Amino acid sequence: MAATRNSTFDDPFFQPADEFFPANHKIGLTFDDLTLATLYSEILPRDTQLDTTLAENLRLNIPVISSDMDTVTESRMAIAMAANGGLGLVHYNMPERQQLSEVSRVKNHVHGLIQEPITVTPGQLIGDVLALIEQKKFGFSTFPVVDEKGRLVGLLSGHVVKPRYAKRKVAEAFTPRAQVHTVTQKELGKDPIARADKFFNEHLGIHKLLVVDDQDHLRGLFTMSDIERIAQERNAQFKPARDAHFHLICGAAVSATRNAFGELDRERILNHVGGLVERGVDAVAVSTAHGYSKGVGNTVKVLRDAFPKLPLIAGNVTSAAGVEYLADCGANAVKVGQGPGSICTTRIVAGVGIPQMTALYVCTRAAAKKKVAILADGGIAKSGDIVKALTLAQAVICGGIFAGCNEAPGEILEIGGKLYKQYRGMGSFAAMKAGSAARYGQPTNPTQKVAAEGIEALKEACGSVDRVLAQLIGGIQSGMGYLGAANLAQLRDKARYIRVSPAGLREAAPHDVVELKTGN
Ligand code: XMP
Repeated sequence: MAATRNSTFDDPFFQPADEFFPANHKIGLTFDDLTLATLYSEILPRDTQLDTTLAENLRLNIPVISSDMDTVTESRMAIAMAANGGLGLVHYNMPERQQLSEVSRVKNHVHGLIQEPITVTPGQLIGDVLALIEQKKFGFSTFPVVDEKGRLVGLLSGHVVKPRYAKRKVAEAFTPRAQVHTVTQKELGKDPIARADKFFNEHLGIHKLLVVDDQDHLRGLFTMSDIERIAQERNAQFKPARDAHFHLICGAAVSATRNAFGELDRERILNHVGGLVERGVDAVAVSTAHGYSKGVGNTVKVLRDAFPKLPLIAGNVTSAAGVEYLADCGANAVKVGQGPGSICTTRIVAGVGIPQMTALYVCTRAAAKKKVAILADGGIAKSGDIVKALTLAQAVICGGIFAGCNEAPGEILEIGGKLYKQYRGMGSFAAMKAGSAARYGQPTNPTQKVAAEGIEALKEACGSVDRVLAQLIGGIQSGMGYLGAANLAQLRDKARYIRVSPAGLREAAPHDVVELKTGN
């Protein structure tokens, strides 16, 4: 019979975590300092499962979370992350009211339903509509027609939006309300896509279905092509991450807010998180640079007492003591990472922080005892780093990898013929001025001197989150295939590590060739 386990010749070289990290305890190791050994495998990458549990009522279908940063996660990113099976943490560098509405947008998002369709009014000329299409570069020419109160009065079909009718009014050309196919919000039920799919099956040649409320205000639009695309996606391996009511899941970050006397502002924190809970938030992250601190611990305690069932994430820490403290305060998951981030300067400015793999090792051992999850936060530059992080942690948090995506906040900039998006540390001067100073324990008054712990940068624009995640997931599954791991628990259990020399690191990247195309 073929050998299906490691040979004893391998054992001294390729060690499990509990031997490898203690044997290297005098040095802090990060992703590029080590590599994983291949193991006997009966697992094909495409058959691996990536679901992960972060709290009793917080489960993801892929172990990837987008950072709570103001150039990474607002509602668009959170929707895209959850639609792919992950989670977005909406940042808190905005007025509390606005964070509530960002969360509502995610929770009310119906995949495939265009919730704010572009509309026209009966008084407009067809020529105006043509100009609008030209100006906004719309790829469609059918528009719902509404009156001044937003009530549906008809549908302007693309067949009549032609230059020959430019002088005609929309009122002369639209299909009147009585002949427009609609469904009420209530009729959509628990599975709006199935409802729309059924409608398009039953109505030959009809490609649009409008959604109205009880007073006939327009509330959305389904198109047949979107529904067909989604029906195909339903066969995808990784399903959207949803709550019990079939809504996409969403997380939100909060800080340990203080009042004018420098004390924890319990009332304000409770009011705000209460608002988030009302809107259906699935997890709240008490997110600061130094989580092993009284203010963060007390914030977690206050929230745990007030919301016993709410999944709480807290951080950041890099020690077992930090994990134990936050777990005892009531956190379900702890963020690990101080200074590994691509825009971080904490280690340079404060001289503090632990290389990420060593930090993850010590933290995960404490976490296992306390029965909390660990989130590896920052420093992830490639899918191989995620595989390494997931040999210890339950999920990863990424900022830079998603900051160039269409769904990240901010405009695309063109510089020297290349497209970029802005990406900045939450401890950069600009971000702290916009409100995040509390996260770094810095004065919130912008006139006072602060020490920045992050930089402002650019990321190359990299298309949609779907595309980026497809690449990352492919890499994670490939790593699991090499280790013979069918799921993430097996990945954690089976991983064997070895240190990499500087020459080994050079060997690991393309070398001695003229590169024509990068791998992605
Ligand atoms: P990546 O490497 O994914 O890192 O870009 C994102 C993570 O970095 C943390 N973060 C900061 N750390 N100064 C820091 O030292 C900063 O200004 C800063 N901003 C964000 C945060 O944990 C994020 O998820």
